[in-house]
Amino acid sequence: MLNLKFLGTGSALPEKVLSNRDLERMVETSDDWITTRTGIKERRIARDDVSTSDLAAAALTEACANAGVEPGDLDGIILGTSTTDTLFPSTACWVQQRLGIKGMFAFDVSAGCSGFLYALEIASALMAGGRGRRFGVIGAEVMSKVVNWRDRGTCVLFGDGAGAAVIGPGSGDSGILASSWGADGSLAPCLYQPAGGTQRPATLETVQENLHTVHMQGRHVFRHAVEAMASAALTAMDRARLTADDVDVLIPHQANIRIMEATRQRTGVPAERMFSVVDRYGNMSAATIPIAIHEAKQAGLLKDGSILLTTAFGTGFTWAAHAIRW
Ligand code: UT7
Repeated sequence: MLNLKFLGTGSALPEKVLSNRDLERMVETSDDWITTRTGIKERRIARDDVSTSDLAAAALTEACANAGVEPGDLDGIILGTSTTDTLFPSTACWVQQRLGIKGMFAFDVSAGCSGFLYALEIASALMAGGRGRRFGVIGAEVMSKVVNWRDRGTCVLFGDGAGAAVIGPGSGDSGILASSWGADGSLAPCLYQPAGGTQRPATLETVQENLHTVHMQGRHVFRHAVEAMASAALTAMDRARLTADDVDVLIPHQANIRIMEATRQRTGVPAERMFSVVDRYGNMSAATIPIAIHEAKQAGLLKDGSILLTTAFGTGFTWAAHAIRW
């Protein structure tokens, strides 16, 4: 087991709320369809002048304050996102610029909705290797700027937000008990943003064809998401020698309540132990898990010694799970 602690957590959510009723006026959809199929009632939308690094910097600032650590004293910043500020440099470097800090390493992890858990895995490995003591781990997205607002199959699903954690050396027996991660690039075209990179650089045509937005085969993603999240969670539980009864809080990636519920059932964790924010925030990709962790902590559900099981799935496809003793 790697002995580490979540020294502090934080989140940042845009003020603007977009409800299902609002969406009914934008595309052919209904509150009933969205609620039944996804469990989402509303989501947050960033202002035009707000980018991913703004939310990430705010979340990291709160996490540092709760940890009693100055952002400038972190040994590194690892940020999971699919909605980068710019193609280069990394959004993590823009976060440094926003916070006026420098020196520590900073980079992004591109693993879609698994981004925060990938970042956590990297940070914990660096800690285990003695490459630093305190790391800022962030999941941040402004999905609203890469969504096609005329495609009802995707635009109702996503929201904006950021969550962050400062991890550092723990006292006692807190830490990551076990983890599991992986990827299957053969399924990359099932969920992607086709243009804007080197495969299809931005042109007038790519903009006109809406190729800078989320393209997703929803049903395909759904099936793989349940299988991969459940399998990663069960592997982490097995490696940590935990049973479903040992898990105090289950935080699956908050994409869709049906995916979350199907995942939970396969892990055997009792329904009342699954923590959800999907009704209020929708799918914020890499940001959902750190925001849910922060809110679970604030709700008093994560106390010293609590067992947290978290599992994610995203574009790539990628997946990851962690069994954590708080
Ligand atoms: O973090 C990973 C990112 N992605 C996801 O998590 C998405 C995973 N997939 C899903 O969550 C689900 O597949 C969706 C919620 C996207 C869709 O649910 P579904 O039960 O798989 O519906 P569907 O795509 O099979 O569509 C069923 C019907 C279709 O109409 P017809 O062909 O049966 O007449 C769609 O055109 O629902 C229609 N539809 C809608 N109707 C009202 C699709 N989107 C909407 C909508 N409002 N927003």
